[in-house]
Amino acid sequence: MQFYSESGIQSLDRFYRANLINSLTGFKSVSLIGTVNQDKQTNLGVFSSIVHLGSDPALVGYINRPRIAAPHTLANIESTGLYTINHILPAFVEKAHQTSAKYAEGVSEFDEVDLTPQYIGDFQAPFVGESLVKYGLILQEIIPLKINNTFLVIGKIHSLIMEDDLLQQDGFIDLHKGGTVCSNGIDSYYGTTPICRLNYAKPGQQPVLKLPHE
Ligand SMILES: Cc1cc2nc3c(=O)[nH]c(=O)nc-3n(C[C@H](O)[C@H](O)[C@H](O)COP(=O)(O)O)c2cc1C
Repeated sequence: MQFYSESGIQSLDRFYRANLINSLTGFKSVSLIGTVNQDKQTNLGVFSSIVHLGSDPALVGYINRPRIAAPHTLANIESTGLYTINHILPAFVEKAHQTSAKYAEGVSEFDEVDLTPQYIGDFQAPFVGESLVKYGLILQEIIPLKINNTFLVIGKIHSLIMEDDLLQQDGFIDLHKGGTVCSNGIDSYYGTTPICRLNYAKPGQQPVLKLPHE
């Protein structure tokens, strides 16, 4: 067994520590966030710290790194109040990863990696045309986290777009069927294998299978 104390973690090489700590919290959703600035210049970045905050109202949060490390998505969200979150498929995982490169302001990652900006209805932020599950968000709150200069960005879902056959009768989205990719750390991507869906847990009752997956 490996054991790391707090001081042991602190003394590690920074890249080793980043891999260790980034992968520790487990498999994560990973998506592309699409934005525009005031001049309609598009921007696309890959983000994996995306978290469900509540369904009523429908709120989603993500953590943005310190401004100096990841400036463009945050600045565009601050100035327009709008952004899209787009699931990633195996077919374009390398393109998605490439959006994490530090492109200069004024360069669109859509163009650089050859993904398609898609405008739906009158929503001003671009979706990713190739993505099968995507949603538009309206900024609600940006909470700066003093502990490490990151930001919790909270948005309310404005619109949600997905293929018909991914939606199950009870509202559950079958992301496995859609091929949505997940991630661990900052450079590894995974497909999924379903295990089960279970009923609402109640004290003293054994969980029962709700819907077999396949
Ligand atoms: C798999 C993966 C996950 C990432 N997750 C995040 C994240 O959750 N938050 C963040 O700020 N940056 C994250 N990044 C880094 C951003 O993609 C990168 O900083 C990007 O250049 C930000 O672009 P922007 O300046 O256009 O916003 C991640 C990178 C990779 C490869």
